[in-house]
Amino acid sequence: MQIIHTKVVIVGAGPSGLLLGQLLSLHGIDNIIVELKSAEYVGQRIRAGILEQGTVDLLRASGVGARMDEIGIPHDGFELAYYGKRFRIDLNKLTGGKNVMCYGQTEVTHDLMEARAEKGLATYYESSNVQINDILSRHPSVSFEHNGTSYRLQCDYVAGCDGFHGVSRQTIPEEKRTEIERVYPFGWLGVLSDTPPVNHELIYAKHERGFALASMRSPTRSRYYIQVPSTDTVDQWSDDAFWEELKKRLPKDCADKLITGPSIEKSIAPLRSFVCEPMQYGRLALVGDAAHIVPPTGAKGLNLAAADVGLLHKLLCKVYVDKEEHQFTRYSELALERVWQTERFSWWLSNMLHDFSGDNTESMEKLLFDRFMNAELSFYLSNETGMKLIAEQYVGLSHVEI
Ligand code: FAD
Ligand code: DHB
Repeated sequence: MQIIHTKVVIVGAGPSGLLLGQLLSLHGIDNIIVELKSAEYVGQRIRAGILEQGTVDLLRASGVGARMDEIGIPHDGFELAYYGKRFRIDLNKLTGGKNVMCYGQTEVTHDLMEARAEKGLATYYESSNVQINDILSRHPSVSFEHNGTSYRLQCDYVAGCDGFHGVSRQTIPEEKRTEIERVYPFGWLGVLSDTPPVNHELIYAKHERGFALASMRSPTRSRYYIQVPSTDTVDQWSDDAFWEELKKRLPKDCADKLITGPSIEKSIAPLRSFVCEPMQYGRLALVGDAAHIVPPTGAKGLNLAAADVGLLHKLLCKVYVDKEEHQFTRYSELALERVWQTERFSWWLSNMLHDFSGDNTESMEKLLFDRFMNAELSFYLSNETGMKLIAEQYVGLSHVEI
């Protein structure tokens, strides 16, 4: 067995783990990342596309903003289409100058991986049997196998950045955590295609056939989503069937000019609201999807992960640079405040924009919910204060100051 000493072991090389590693290294805090999958697999996972202002600022501060600033597309507004009517949310005007950036998670991951490789920092990809040990002691460790060798990383802290299905959260004894969850009765079928986006800004469309979203990755690459029942599988959806359904749900003038083409990626993502409380246990901190999941409406998943990273990195700087060891224990309480605000926004927007009628059985509860959500949406879109509230949450709440 190889025994290696480091300060922080990061479990998972998704955006949370890579960004945390980058920030810690900038402050001279040694860290090692352990990842289940190969670097190629991690780098090609198509997921989020919109970065909040705070995420953009954090990426710049961590020294990986150059490519994003070169090829990312700043968006100063987006549209909400409501049964065919189009409303523009002017993010820039309504928030006093804030924007979001259209820059895919694959690109963020690529930039972070490159920065890590350039610095020669250790990442053990394709590891197996990852286990977190002695997390209540002052000397926890992470053990795993890699290329036929057993490793034990002896450390001070473990950052659980291993996503929803990872091992970190399970390390917290069941009786010491509360998992709060809602699974929605539908998913998002997403298609990536090398076709020009139908609109220069994103369109979130509410339609009686279900929700649709028109997004993009570049001036020549589009990303579209439609709400589908959670029982649907990708095989049931040919490209033609997808485009046909999307056209029905987008506002007519958009549908008329939609350019279609072969899908280069097609997948169904389930929708879930999930939070694990607390987000830390002993010397383990849960970060990003390991601790919480939001439904994708409003593009918050990756951004919330980045906010956790920003906070944990600041607390670890207090621990190592300012020698204030107790600061680590503040993480969960400080993070959860923002987590719940973001969960609330994603849940609210999902409730307003999706069709919940499902199996078409009519009940008074369903009718009421439908009418209330329509009233809620038209109320918020009918006045500037309502639109400002949407805009401020869409560009992202401020990151926690400590
Ligand atoms: P992850 O990206 O999940 O990374 C976790 C990493 O840990 C992975 O590389 C995984 O292989 C690794 N790992 C897992 N188990 C172990 C283990 N035992 N040991 C070591 N490593 C392990 N958000 C949006 O904002 N917009 C979207 O459109 C969007 N679409 C999504 C579609 C899908 C299918 C999913 C699953 C998520 C989507 N999200 C979206 C959410 C967003 O992608 C996540 O919030 C973001 O990836 C969180 O980053 P993370 O690093 O915390 O977790
Ligand atoms: C994208 C995904 C989202 O969930 C969202 O709200 C906006 C954009 C995207 O993948 O481009």
